[in-house]
Amino acid sequence: MDRLSNFKRYTVTSALPYANGPVHIGHLAGVYVPADIFVRFLRMNGEDVIFIGGSDEHGVPITIKALRQGVTPQEIVDRYHGMIKKSFEEFGISFDIYSRTSNKIHHETASAFFKKLYEDGKFIEKVSQQYYDEATGHFLADRYITGTCPHCGYDRAYGDQCEKCGTSLNATDLIEPSSVLSGNKPVLRDTKHWFLPLDQYEPWLREWILEGHKGDWKANVYGQCKSWIEQGLQPRAVTRDLDWGVKVPIDGADGKVLYVWFDAPIGYISATRELTPEWEKYWKDPETKLIHFIGKDNIVFHCIIFPAMLKAEGSYILPDNVPANEFLNLEGEKISTSRNWAVWLHEYLQEFPGKQDVLRYVLTSNAPETKDNDFTWKDFQTRNNSELVAILGNFINRTVVLTHKYFEGKVPAAISYTDADKAALEEMRQFPGRIATSLYGYRFREALTEVMNLARLGNKYLTDNEPWKKFSSDPIRVGTILNLSLQICAQLAIVAEPFLPFSAAKIRHTLNLPKFKWEDAVALNWLKEAQQLNQPELLFEKIEDSQIQTQIQKLLDTKKANLEAQAKPPVKPMKESIQYDDFVKMDIRVGTILEAEKVAKTDKLLKLKIDTGIDQRIVISGIAKYFKPEEIIGKRVCVLANLSPRKLKGIDSQGMILMAENPDGTLFFVAPPDDAMNGADIK
Ligand code: MF3
Ligand code: ZN
Repeated sequence: MDRLSNFKRYTVTSALPYANGPVHIGHLAGVYVPADIFVRFLRMNGEDVIFIGGSDEHGVPITIKALRQGVTPQEIVDRYHGMIKKSFEEFGISFDIYSRTSNKIHHETASAFFKKLYEDGKFIEKVSQQYYDEATGHFLADRYITGTCPHCGYDRAYGDQCEKCGTSLNATDLIEPSSVLSGNKPVLRDTKHWFLPLDQYEPWLREWILEGHKGDWKANVYGQCKSWIEQGLQPRAVTRDLDWGVKVPIDGADGKVLYVWFDAPIGYISATRELTPEWEKYWKDPETKLIHFIGKDNIVFHCIIFPAMLKAEGSYILPDNVPANEFLNLEGEKISTSRNWAVWLHEYLQEFPGKQDVLRYVLTSNAPETKDNDFTWKDFQTRNNSELVAILGNFINRTVVLTHKYFEGKVPAAISYTDADKAALEEMRQFPGRIATSLYGYRFREALTEVMNLARLGNKYLTDNEPWKKFSSDPIRVGTILNLSLQICAQLAIVAEPFLPFSAAKIRHTLNLPKFKWEDAVALNWLKEAQQLNQPELLFEKIEDSQIQTQIQKLLDTKKANLEAQAKPPVKPMKESIQYDDFVKMDIRVGTILEAEKVAKTDKLLKLKIDTGIDQRIVISGIAKYFKPEEIIGKRVCVLANLSPRKLKGIDSQGMILMAENPDGTLFFVAPPDDAMNGADIK
């Protein structure tokens, strides 16, 4: 077999999914299935390969989810990390390690990486203006801010990236920015950050990518890189004013963390350190081939920013290839976690038990390798019923059943070959090389088509030779026909292994074969004469219309729910009616917060000192999760002043602050008009 590479070992990474939701078919088709096929293939070739995965547990998507659900970010990532890890395992994604970026080893690795760059003078330290939400007291990094993309006009671009056109943005590039937290128009405030001067890496990136990887990187990847480089690269902040993430490990950086796209790719390195004490050879030896499997929205980070970081650090290798896929849509619409428009892996595994390979097959044969593609349940059913069942399963089953029928399940001898037999054998010899060439070129659909063509060859061979018509007149010929057909089955068990590992194992078990190496796939003599076969196992079964209908109905229900939610925001229902007298009993005053501090031993309560115009008093308020004490001092508020005092954590609370709460749980102070004085009474 020709080896297309002369590397000693492979480091294969797959994008670390955000631990803010379960994994769906878009992730699988774009990243994990192709990466897994590639790695299984390399392992069959006896290569030294590590396959790295893990959860991306920092970043604003996580903190937003935590805020919305009123829990801590750690609770969110614990929940989803466990869920994602388990479903990948069950689905047969064969990571050597599935780690997570909230690990200690990752914090250490990422800190050390930052520190090295800092000490080597690779950053620019700069005070700049960042958007700030005055209502909630947050700097609006990344996904805390949305607006219109200056490049494509998409009106829901984020502060760090436009998901429509893929462009990487700075929040200040957005047109008509608004805060995701409050919907308010943010203001600009000074803050200090560290920037990676990407502009300085431009000549090097031109040479490395535009010259060095022309023709070898996929056209979609190369094209995106080229357009970014030609638009001119800007220095990029690698720190943020947030409290969830890897702390910036230098003095004078309190309240700041590393930008999630700075720490997350270092997660690949941390996971390797966690996996093996020999991690350095997988990251620093030029004879190691580093390959990143990602989706197209990750291209800039893996092709430009992370390589620039690695280059700046100086001791690391760079990716040899970044075979990014385009997107998979679902029934004609963009997959969306927030709109629940997805096929979730954990649900699929429950609803289609034992059918991992069916999904692996459908996602590979329809993989969005060169353009966006569409997943439909109808197509899923058709590919299962008329390809897996009718071609692959049918061929193996027929061959094994006939061998049991005519030869008591013992492999019959191949006595003499006809010219047609010899032609079939010759064709068989071509498959492994062809499939390998496609796989080395990251053309997984093409490779899988060839696997199926081998099964088609088998079916045609059986149909042409009709052994079932010949047994009584010529059992010896039938023996040869079945011997050859069984060899095709064995070859299928080998070449299908990277794609359909569960089914390949079943075929091997039926044929009583061990696991082979890829190079054995050309041998054509795996089954010895008189070798006993087992009874055929059910490989694939027909998927009925009713099962597909259930799935389609589920999506229709989602659509309906989304429409209803849009039409009618989920505001709380009104309370029981009261009398005017009930209302006037309340004494509500305009006040100002004079002091604020956290109440010890709780993470919910703030102790506020308030000037109510009547007096200065203490109010305990359950808003500590939403507001930092120092940010609300001086804020003007409305206070329910005649609420009888209550003891909270041993402190007398004399009143209540009025707040407005959105259906999503975000909280705002009810602000009195500017001209109303402290003590003004609200009625
Ligand atoms: N969490 C990111 C996403 O889902 C991917 C991170 S890949 C890594 O888009 F390299 F940063 F880890
Ligand atoms: Zn855009």
